[in-house]
Amino acid sequence: MGNIKRYALNDGTGTPAIGLGTISLKGARGVGSIVTAIEENGYRLIDTSTNYNNEGAVGEAIRRTTVPRGELIINSKLPGAAHDYDQAIRMIQESLYRIGIDYFDKYLIHWPLPKQGKYVEAWQALIDARKFGLIKTIGVSNFLTEHLEKLIDETGVTPATNQIERHPYFNNNELVEDNKRLGIVPEAWSPFGREINDVLENETIRGIAEKHGKSPAQIIVRWNVQNDVLVIPRSSSSVHQRENLDVFDFELTDEDVKEIDSLDKGEEGRVEGQHPNEYEEFV
Ligand SMILES: NC(=O)c1ccc[n+]([C@@H]2O[C@H](COP(=O)([O-])OP(=O)(O)OC[C@H]3O[C@@H](n4cnc5c(N)ncnc54)[C@H](OP(=O)(O)O)[C@@H]3O)[C@@H](O)[C@H]2O)c1
Repeated sequence: MGNIKRYALNDGTGTPAIGLGTISLKGARGVGSIVTAIEENGYRLIDTSTNYNNEGAVGEAIRRTTVPRGELIINSKLPGAAHDYDQAIRMIQESLYRIGIDYFDKYLIHWPLPKQGKYVEAWQALIDARKFGLIKTIGVSNFLTEHLEKLIDETGVTPATNQIERHPYFNNNELVEDNKRLGIVPEAWSPFGREINDVLENETIRGIAEKHGKSPAQIIVRWNVQNDVLVIPRSSSSVHQRENLDVFDFELTDEDVKEIDSLDKGEEGRVEGQHPNEYEEFV
């Protein structure tokens, strides 16, 4: 799988347009799936988080693959319990120890937790951790426009990416556009609605897939790639992993994109109702 499209990031680095999501890829089977993704199927960006409880599996996969560390982009995320500056620095170090690497290619604040009101402090920790050499690229996740603007106003440092919920039932298009306006690459999480919604069975998506001779999953990945959104589908299956990268030999028409966009259900479409102003994780 050569030729994966790349995006330039605002800190001068770059990223593949598609990475591997890893929620629930843990233990020996998880390690096997991640190794297969890297070794056989060409994935270079691996998305994990302290909250996924699988940083160990990601580290083991990195050690087992023959792909050099310098070619991989390892992304983890700061948990809600560690927004205090000192705790954030220690958490980043602990996370590195768990994975067994000495720097993160990319590291995000997992959720803004605005009711706690410490995300600017956490952001300052990421800015400093980058100076200390612990992280190369810093970004955020689940940040709304107001949170992004506050970070930028108060620190002068714009996140490189913002990983947000996005699938056809909750396309988050306004926030996608706001990210781009601010110079931030949007990332789409749960692009297939996890195991929760039926977006891969949706008639409209199936119809577009049939027309292009592609699978529904490929239509959704392509919809992101064509919108300049980084996408991180998760798959434990080698066949699906390959399929999800094989999206660079066809193009959706403007009409296809409009049809997919029209499936949006607004707030009701969120897979687990996790509104970033309300949702708090304190792991
Ligand atoms: N920042 C955040 O707050 C946040 C929140 C949620 C998720 N995420 C990230 O986003 C990643 C992806 O989201 P997700 O894990 O929720 O789920 P997802 O990627 O939306 O869906 C995964 C499901 O799709 C199936 N699948 C994958 N490729 C397929 C294909 N080509 N054809 C048919 N089925 C396919 C997988 O089954 P198989 O394994 O059988 O292929 C699995 O059941 C996560 O793993 C995580 O890294 C971040």
